[in-house]
Amino acid sequence: MVPLCIPEISGNEVDYVKECIESGWVSSTGGEYLNKFEEEFSRFTGIKYSNAVINGTAALHLALAALNVGEGDEVIVPSLTFISTVNVIKYVGAKVIFVDVNLENYTIDTKEIEKAVSERTKAIIPVHLYGNLADMDKIMEIAHKNNLYVIEDATEALGSKKRRGMAGGFGHIGCYSFNGNKLMTTGAGGMICTNDEKINERIDYLKNQTKTVLENGSIVHNEIGFNYRMPNILAAFGLAQLEQLDKFILRKKEITTLYKKELSGILGLGFPKSKCDEDICQWLNCIEISEEYGVNRDELIKHMNNEKVICRPFFYPLHKMEAFSGEKVMSGELINTELCSARGINLPSSVGITDEEIVRVCSILKNSVKNSQH
Ligand SMILES: Cc1ncc(COP(=O)(O)O)c(C=O)c1O
Repeated sequence: MVPLCIPEISGNEVDYVKECIESGWVSSTGGEYLNKFEEEFSRFTGIKYSNAVINGTAALHLALAALNVGEGDEVIVPSLTFISTVNVIKYVGAKVIFVDVNLENYTIDTKEIEKAVSERTKAIIPVHLYGNLADMDKIMEIAHKNNLYVIEDATEALGSKKRRGMAGGFGHIGCYSFNGNKLMTTGAGGMICTNDEKINERIDYLKNQTKTVLENGSIVHNEIGFNYRMPNILAAFGLAQLEQLDKFILRKKEITTLYKKELSGILGLGFPKSKCDEDICQWLNCIEISEEYGVNRDELIKHMNNEKVICRPFFYPLHKMEAFSGEKVMSGELINTELCSARGINLPSSVGITDEEIVRVCSILKNSVKNSQH
């Protein structure tokens, strides 16, 4: 079987976790791995402050809480994303404003953001979908003009860069996920990063139950906070993964190059486009199947899975789900979102996939199109 995306655990993970267990400092207080992991993550991304948390959803939730986004505020977000991006807006009681994506790389359409901004807008959450970068230059321009916060959902885009900037480092806050299927993993985990000292202080305070220690050692909590800290034992795992991150990114890029080479020139089969100043690390490789391809997208995925090649359709539009049926949809419908969602396929993308496996995936795709176009 060729899996969709499984972790690569081949460095110091076992040694560091063992060392952590032997030290007894497995939780979030004490122990050295947590600080080290956060420091090294900041060194990698170039973002000043990093806070390790229990998952990417917690990172996004904390981001909104730290920026005081709440009832009466509107948050602009794409509908083509994982449910967490939008759940967190509901967690803080703000209003979801769904906008469309572009057809080039499936990220939020900046023209649609401009239309969606109102007096109540407080934040935008662009999602760097599957590693493809949202247009952060334009998004930050709109944000500055309208005094809005930008929280980057970079959970899928660790390693993607624009000029010298890393995904997650362009907005006020960047959020990452270390779920088992992501570029690097801690089993479950996440990171919330910012260059702003004041925002960081607030994140740090909220993630740790707003814990304040008095002179006599009593612990008090002056606000409602969250228990979102990552435990030291996961940070030990994460540090070992971080040591291999450059290697992981390099391999991810080779995988994309090989997919593009093998699948070039097939009628009706497209790839996401990137700009010349972008250096993309595709977390999951993407293809789009249009009518000219001649095979139904869902049938194709079924066929691939029967051949033991695990593929997945793109995210289903959130505004079409019952949980979000009452939310505002800009322009009444999101045509590009529905088109991308209906056409897109994620291909197997594990760091450990072999070139032979990629060639096999592509030959199944080529054969299915040969059969249909003859
Ligand atoms: C776009 C997006 N946002 C948020 C998340 C949430 O991350 P986690 O699963 O670590 O909570 C994920 C991934 O799982 C994701 O793909």
